Amino acid sequence: MDLYEYQAKDLFAAHGVPVLPGEVADNPADAKAIAAKYGQPVVVKAQVKTGGRGKAGGVKLASTADETEEKASAILGLDIKGHIVHRVLVTPASDIAEEYYFSFLLDRANRTFLAMASVEGGMDIEEVAATKPEALAKIHIDAIKGVDAAKATEIADAANFPAEVKDQVVDVIVKLWETFVAEDATLVEVNPLVRDPQGKIVALDGKVTLDENADFRHPAHAELVDKQAEDPLEAKAKEKGLNYVKLDGQVGIIGNGAGLVMSTLDVVAYAGEKHGVKPANFLDIGGGASAEVMANGLDVILHDADVRSVFVNVFGGITACDAVANGIVAALEILGDEATKPLVVRLDGNNVEEGRRILAEANHPLVTVVDTMDNAAAKAAELAAAGV
Ligand SMILES: Nc1ncnc2c1ncn2[C@@H]1O[C@H](COP(=O)(O)OP(=O)(O)O)[C@@H](O)[C@H]1O
Ligand SMILES: [Mg+2]
Repeated sequence: MDLYEYQAKDLFAAHGVPVLPGEVADNPADAKAIAAKYGQPVVVKAQVKTGGRGKAGGVKLASTADETEEKASAILGLDIKGHIVHRVLVTPASDIAEEYYFSFLLDRANRTFLAMASVEGGMDIEEVAATKPEALAKIHIDAIKGVDAAKATEIADAANFPAEVKDQVVDVIVKLWETFVAEDATLVEVNPLVRDPQGKIVALDGKVTLDENADFRHPAHAELVDKQAEDPLEAKAKEKGLNYVKLDGQVGIIGNGAGLVMSTLDVVAYAGEKHGVKPANFLDIGGGASAEVMANGLDVILHDADVRSVFVNVFGGITACDAVANGIVAALEILGDEATKPLVVRLDGNNVEEGRRILAEANHPLVTVVDTMDNAAAKAAELAAAGV
């Protein structure tokens, strides 16, 4: 889960990283009131989960409270790379002597963590990385050893931070690492980390991605979820403990096991080319496909207005095909009139004969049983195209 800048900076502050105060407003009048409280020039900043806000006109200086109101009304409602601005952060304007870049991230390709730092921070770090790679220090972090003052000094030296701010920068690096580990983040980024004319170091921007697999040990992170912006189907699936990702096609997909679901997406994408349809979602109902889990899964998928047909692709293992078939029949009973779209079911594996017998006996008008995965994908794609 990506956080908004203000949330990222709240986490930074909780771990002792220096940030400026700030408050969020969803209308110009509130923004004005916040500026009046600070009684000094402020910066009005679009809160959207994408970078490059400054260049897109989403970060503006305001000298007075009235000007803050104007700037907020110009920024609220802006479309920044497809993200509509619903809220702005109002924060004191800082004088800036220098802008630096710093991040910790999960480096999947190298199966480790990575620190990246540069004294040429600000808005264009991607350009620095592309045109002047030597100005961006990259240091691998040993997951067990982590980052202590010595490692932080190594990073600060590699990036050539000026001697007069090095102690502060080292301290910030250690605290950002503490944030990264304690919050189970996969990214913490500060761009810019600034030095003000008095020589003080402050994180002016913040970007944090939290690892949702670790949500169970961070009950407090639930409050960071933006319920308004969340896809309602994804929210419902999450509530039911389902592993669901909405895509933009028309063929709903349910399978047991992430690998099987991924390959189901592939065969449906392939079969769908002929019909102009694509997979509508990823949904892995896991190993124990009980009737209730199957009903929950179908419930989510059938309420996706884009879905025209559903492909249920199950390989019976510990949960045998007969149990899955009973699950499908019971799920359709639970859903009753809410089930309105054709289902193509492919069962294979443990107890497949019995599973197919149960489905044949139930003889549900919406269900078509197909023997192979390829044929089932073709059938589901054909039905989706017919239903469009
Ligand atoms: N509180 C602030 N005071 C002064 N300048 C700021 C402040 N916040 C941001 N800026 C300036 O605006 C630029 C862009 O803001 P930033 O928060 O980095 O947004 P983004 O990275 O999305 O463009 C920064 O590089 C900095 O120069
Ligand atoms: Mg930035």
